[in-house]
Amino acid sequence: MKKIIKNGIIVTASDTFEADLCIEDGKVSQIGSNLSSDDAEIIDAAGCYVFPGGIDPHTHLDMPFGGTVTKDDFESGTKAAAFGGTTTIIDFCLTSKGKSLGSSIETWHNKSKEKAVIDYGFHLQIVEMNEDVLKELSQVIDSEGITSFKVFMAYKHQFQADDETLYKTLVAAKDLGALVMVHAENGDVIDYLVKKALMEGNTDPIYHALTRPPEVEGEATGRAATLTGLAKSQLYVVHVSCAEAAEKIAEARNRGIDIWGETCPQYLVLDQTYLEKPNFEGAKYVWSPPLREKWNQDVLWNALKTGQLQTIGSDQCSFDFAGQKDLGKGDFSKIPNGGPLIEDRVSILYSEGVKKGKITLNQFVDITSTRAAKLFGLYPKKGTIAVGADADLVIFDPNIERTISAKTHHMAVDYNPFEGMKITGEPVSVLSRGEFVIREKAFVGKPGAGQYIKRAKYGKQFENNSPAEIML
Ligand code: URP
Ligand code: ZN
Ligand code: ZN
Ligand code: ZN
Repeated sequence: MKKIIKNGIIVTASDTFEADLCIEDGKVSQIGSNLSSDDAEIIDAAGCYVFPGGIDPHTHLDMPFGGTVTKDDFESGTKAAAFGGTTTIIDFCLTSKGKSLGSSIETWHNKSKEKAVIDYGFHLQIVEMNEDVLKELSQVIDSEGITSFKVFMAYKHQFQADDETLYKTLVAAKDLGALVMVHAENGDVIDYLVKKALMEGNTDPIYHALTRPPEVEGEATGRAATLTGLAKSQLYVVHVSCAEAAEKIAEARNRGIDIWGETCPQYLVLDQTYLEKPNFEGAKYVWSPPLREKWNQDVLWNALKTGQLQTIGSDQCSFDFAGQKDLGKGDFSKIPNGGPLIEDRVSILYSEGVKKGKITLNQFVDITSTRAAKLFGLYPKKGTIAVGADADLVIFDPNIERTISAKTHHMAVDYNPFEGMKITGEPVSVLSRGEFVIREKAFVGKPGAGQYIKRAKYGKQFENNSPAEIML
């Protein structure tokens, strides 16, 4: 059935205007004043903003990591994402040396296809680069529409790839039309610092932060940027946590290198002192890169405001405090790295960013949705409100005041890192391709309703998905 959303204020990355919006066959079919139709369901959005659905370009759902598996899978994770105003996620498909990329991708399809309640795509981890991988990669781009590759410069003895692999991946991505993503921390130096700390008897969660200082993130970010320039390729740095890394990205951009930076809500509002909480509670805040000294938050907000960082990912990678984070009692290096962050990503950026005057409303839409759609080959099908685009929409009440808590969140874990934080603004209803997933704050979606999305090549989205074409 046709739907008309009336009386809302539509906000895109470039415009803010009062208008009605008609949805047909999952797409926005009209935007205008006083739209009406005899056979349409009318949805009143008075007093609310209508945003394009959030795009979370960085999630780890149902992922084996740190001797356990993340608590949230594609069902609970995408449901929580939808409650938070996110309508598309891009999850990281892990791969292994010597195993075909195709079989790894199949594993990720099996984890997601009957569970996701919103649309999703995959990034592909690169652990080695040789003739076989190269051949399979070009097939993967065409058949799976996976146009972003992830290289870990950290997690030695596990995910870490060497510089040769990173460089070859950058060269391959340039040729194939893909965007390379890096987890930028110097894993070799971290490995040494961790061993040293443990030998000296320093086992508490705070040593997670102290053995991964900002310098190791800044160094790896600068190295990856330099290699990108040398390869004349393109790079997206995930989860930028500190001034050192943000500065390296800004410097490289000033030199004309094609480099982009993502930060995460946790780095914008939490700081390193959380890892010092007593009774092992610091473990709740163990993820990589670690939380930093508080002054870094201003640097990150400023980088978002000035466009030196462009996106916000959640880095959702959730583990229960009881039973999973526990694995690291007596040895911080065994605490599974990651946190439950998918649900509060959009609201925190609104409340702490827009409401407090750190970014504009249009920047908020760009950072939480539009820019990721453009970088990852989803635009303009997703990431904006336009005739012909998917009706992925969030009806957002900017005045609701609430307190974040594990008691009311929808993630499957037993704690929320933002517990007790008072915020303003909440998604009231969320639509995915024209169907309600959240209606008046209640879940009405269906596991399996989320579709896998093949994405356009890097920089080619405008050619592959012109508005005229997506109207068909
Ligand atoms: O600690 C984190 N961030 N866990 C997820 C994996 C990663 O490094 O992104
Ligand atoms: Zn990472
Ligand atoms: Zn080692
Ligand atoms: Zn991550």
